[in-house]
Amino acid sequence: MSAHDFVIAGSPAWIGSLEQTLLPWLEAHRASYSGLFLLADANALPAGQGAVDALSEAWGDFHRCPMILSDAQTYTPGDAEAGKTLLSCERIWRAMLEARLDRRALVLILGGGVTGDLGGFCAATYKRGIDFVQIPTTLLAMTDAALGGKVGINFDDIKNTIGAFRQPAAVFIDPTFLQTLHPRELRSGLAEVVKHAYIGAPELLQYLQQRPHVLNAPENLSPHEWNRLLRASIAVKARIVSEDPLEHGLRALLNFGHTFGHGLESYFLSIGQPITHGEAIAAGMLCEMEDPSPADIALLQPLLPPVSLSQVCWSSLWAFMQQDKKNDRDRVVIATPGDAPFTMRKTTLTPADVQGRWQRFLGQTGQA
Ligand code: GLY
Repeated sequence: MSAHDFVIAGSPAWIGSLEQTLLPWLEAHRASYSGLFLLADANALPAGQGAVDALSEAWGDFHRCPMILSDAQTYTPGDAEAGKTLLSCERIWRAMLEARLDRRALVLILGGGVTGDLGGFCAATYKRGIDFVQIPTTLLAMTDAALGGKVGINFDDIKNTIGAFRQPAAVFIDPTFLQTLHPRELRSGLAEVVKHAYIGAPELLQYLQQRPHVLNAPENLSPHEWNRLLRASIAVKARIVSEDPLEHGLRALLNFGHTFGHGLESYFLSIGQPITHGEAIAAGMLCEMEDPSPADIALLQPLLPPVSLSQVCWSSLWAFMQQDKKNDRDRVVIATPGDAPFTMRKTTLTPADVQGRWQRFLGQTGQA
């Protein structure tokens, strides 16, 4: 098989067709594992059916646990998130027990960010932890969620409150899954690509600024363009996570845009009009930048939520932002890129700062 493309906190990662990456890797590691358990988002499965059929031929009848996390016909932002619960874990743990998985079993997790977080958490805790590989099928998972070993679930309506760090045995990124995604879902993942560009890839930032079609019409991108974007974006995540796998320092920079972003995401969820994670953090990045330039605003504009943001009162945002476990009672802390790539600036915000930044954002994006 070909050499891996990245090593992310010790986990090898490949970009390429599953037939050319996953299948030879499994063959090479066959002696290490007692059996396979496929946990898959049922909606993503058809695009990976060729590889699954080849797997059946090579491994015989292995255990499968399809999950229905969202409606295949319509795209509703965040609907899979409702399945990231303890109840889903119970279902998966029970299926693992019924399949008589022992500690040498390997879990294959095929799906988007929710499937990866949920499946990774179940594997990380089953019999005190068994190996799993991540096969991300959304852009968001390919460039962020499936990389770096954060696994977990939501609890009492608070995102990712219960979880662990456990690195996957390997990650297999097959860009052909991108062809099956809704443009809004592609744009959501592109927000993480832009975040990585700001954090550590000035040449990627320039590439995106010079090619507005990438963020405006991602559904038309060629495989060559996707390959380039994925490689440049993943390189940033790989470097940060390898340097700081347990988030004692620099990894907090990956939360750029997420403090305001999670506030917005929670607000729209609470009023029954969910927006995508990427839309929220695109707005969050503009709020968290010290002084966004016209170029920053032009770049991020196509990724913003397609809803009126002026309806959001800064005090509602503030209330949701305070749920972040990193904060004090009357302050929130944001991590933003410093002047040089891979440097971080931390800033403490008061309620007045949050109000000022939200009003600045609304004015700059023509929504005041
Ligand atoms: N998604 C942020 C991180 O992996 O740290």
